[in-house]
Amino acid sequence: MTNHELQSGIISGLDVGTTKVCAVIAQVDDEGRMNLLGMGRTAATGIRKGMVVSVKETIASIEAAVSEAENQADVKMDGVYVALSGEQVRSMNNAGVITVSRGESRVPSTSEIDEDDILRVLEQAKAITLPTEREILHVLPQEFKIDQHDGIKDPLGHVGHRLEARVHLVTVVSSAAQNITRCVEAAGLWVETLILAPLASAYAVLEETEKEQGVVLIDMGGGTTDIIVYYNGGVRHTSVIPFGGNRVTNDIAQILHTTYQKAEELKREHGYAKFPATIEDNEITIEGIAGRQPQTTTKRGLSSIIEPRLEEILALCRNEVRKSEVGDKLTFGVVLTGGGVLLKDIEEKAGEVFNADTKVGYPLHIQGLEDVMHSPEYATATGLLLYGREHQEKYGAVRRPGGIGRFIGDLSGGVKDFFRELF
Ligand SMILES: Nc1ncnc2c1ncn2[C@@H]1O[C@H](COP(=O)(O)OP(=O)(O)OP(=O)(O)O)[C@@H](O)[C@H]1O
Ligand SMILES: [Mg+2]
Repeated sequence: MTNHELQSGIISGLDVGTTKVCAVIAQVDDEGRMNLLGMGRTAATGIRKGMVVSVKETIASIEAAVSEAENQADVKMDGVYVALSGEQVRSMNNAGVITVSRGESRVPSTSEIDEDDILRVLEQAKAITLPTEREILHVLPQEFKIDQHDGIKDPLGHVGHRLEARVHLVTVVSSAAQNITRCVEAAGLWVETLILAPLASAYAVLEETEKEQGVVLIDMGGGTTDIIVYYNGGVRHTSVIPFGGNRVTNDIAQILHTTYQKAEELKREHGYAKFPATIEDNEITIEGIAGRQPQTTTKRGLSSIIEPRLEEILALCRNEVRKSEVGDKLTFGVVLTGGGVLLKDIEEKAGEVFNADTKVGYPLHIQGLEDVMHSPEYATATGLLLYGREHQEKYGAVRRPGGIGRFIGDLSGGVKDFFRELF
């Protein structure tokens, strides 16, 4: 097997989700294109709602997915970009202001804004009082204001006196970040950096114009539904709702008195997010469990269980979009991704709830293994690779266990992160 370090342009990602662990390996070619070399997927048993609940099971799932990806790619994984989600994530918008200054003693002046000024203003924007158990995961610049001029994306080289930065801050409970990091390390890998799962998904399914003119991305997984709102090229709002497609399956199992597995099968095969008026209805027979009588329902009956729960999840997403304060400016409406949106006619249901343009988002900007990877389920995993490519273009791979890129919250890592998010 070829050693990762000897291979140039290799990037690896690990999406440790509630229902599946997905390991991916790609290589960036000379033209900067991302080619997928290997993918491994296993059922996740140690994760609930994005959080590690069984370290042992999570490590085993990671090992199995990684070894499958490595065998397919014939490349060994070492440093990985890892997705993070769950109720332990919180976010807020904040601003920081500095006076542009020069020289060692930083004498205030009206002059060209340099990288140092940008770092200082971002440090200001990041300076919030956090509960001791929390750390900052991302500082995502939205826009800058120089004196009276706002809406500036990149202030480097502009001339001014007062520099203001508006940012979106994402924080995480440190122990949750450490738990996932430890599981990855116990599986023989190390974490290049942790990335908020919907941020990774956005790298995979959104185009720059959508981010500019406004869009909300909803990643409905098994245990969580993650939301990220973009406007004017920046992240305006992120949120994690602690329910996903598994909640729909649970309802089916409970109401139809069947196993979770059978309910999942029924949902995938016959379920609709919004039952079409024109379609012919069919009866479905459900075998009895443990000697019970078989039951019957119809496709419409099944969908009448699915619809209200889905509507509830989408309505929670709509409330989050309202909180973003740019909800009425989102030209490109709603993009749906994650395995939970594979339900038939999901676009119709989401369109009804949001009263906006909706579409299902598939992973873009990557080639190779299209037959397996071309599914909303792989938005996060694909996005990790694209994020990783951007990260390595700017800083090179950290390529050592325990390297500074690994740790969130420390100053050196934080400063690197500022620039990563910024340019
Ligand atoms: N064909 C399908 N039809 C309907 N639902 C589906 C289909 N395939 C998968 N799902 C649902 O997608 C969900 C899993 O999605 P996904 O793989 O994105 O989750 P995850 O990333 O493991 O979880 P999370 O992001 O919540 O941690 C499950 O609830 C499953 O029932
Ligand atoms: Mg997911």
